[in-house]
Amino acid sequence: MKGILLAGGAGSRLYPLTLVASKQLQPVYDKPMVYYPLTTLIEGGVREFCLISTPQDLPRFRQLFGDGSQWGLSIEYREQAHPQGIAQALRIADTFIGSDPVTLILGDNIFYGGDSFHRAFADFRSGATIFGYHVNDPERYGVVEFDAEGRAISIEEKPARPRSNHAVPGLYLYDNEVVEIARNLQPSARGELEITDVNLEYLRRGALRVCRLTRGFAWLDAGTSSSLHEASAYVQTIEKRQGIKVGCPEEAAFRRGFISLPEFEKLIGRLPRCEYRTYLEAVAAEAHGA
Ligand code: DAU
Repeated sequence: MKGILLAGGAGSRLYPLTLVASKQLQPVYDKPMVYYPLTTLIEGGVREFCLISTPQDLPRFRQLFGDGSQWGLSIEYREQAHPQGIAQALRIADTFIGSDPVTLILGDNIFYGGDSFHRAFADFRSGATIFGYHVNDPERYGVVEFDAEGRAISIEEKPARPRSNHAVPGLYLYDNEVVEIARNLQPSARGELEITDVNLEYLRRGALRVCRLTRGFAWLDAGTSSSLHEASAYVQTIEKRQGIKVGCPEEAAFRRGFISLPEFEKLIGRLPRCEYRTYLEAVAAEAHGA
């Protein structure tokens, strides 16, 4: 499965931080925000990526990740000249997707815990798989409604009167039909190509699977100053308490077998002396012991 990392948009809600760096490059505790969704997809087994951002910000991402080969990945870059909707990413990346299935993740979505994604990636065969997560403020999101049997029956984008408390997080798995679905999409009333309309088309076709994320699973979006701060505090709490890192692509690539132990150690050797390096050294040492 191929992966699209969408990291564009105006980031206006984080102004003036976004004068310094784009939203997805802001620190979430000890790493740039984009490390977290990238790691989520690596953990799902994705190796081929297309990162989409604005013409101004793309060079910074390129500098950060290069071609991805240091982590056993391949990463290509495409511009979204104007933020005309999340589903536009599927059009921009159509030749990257080719004839493969694809997963799309939003660059400001942070996930932690459980094995729901792991299973969703492993079980994915066809159609679309999206997720439902119980939140306090569903009106801010895409909202999915279930019938008594737990089947999804409606999805609405930012409804004034939500039919449920289940928001749809920014991680979507699609079969190759999505290329044609995205091509035929019409802009919504707010002038965007809506990802919710893509999901609705799969629902119409009877090909949408909605996995409910269970209690104990954390989904954070870091799109405002206070949610950014909360995400940092959350990551710090988990990392300090458990002594493991959240959103560490080097570790995920190693654990997934995308890089060997000698390759992992070689890349650690290139890092400056810092707490991040010490952590990775401990991961490598543990692997030697295993
Ligand atoms: O976070 C999950 C939610 O993301 C979903 O529940 C909604 O269904 C979905 O529409 C989306 O809602 P948001 O209000 O969070 O979308 P926003 O416009 O803030 O964009 C989300 C991220 O995608 C943000 O980091 C910027 C990026 N983006 C967005 C658009 C519209 C782009 O890179 N290009 C775009 O054209």
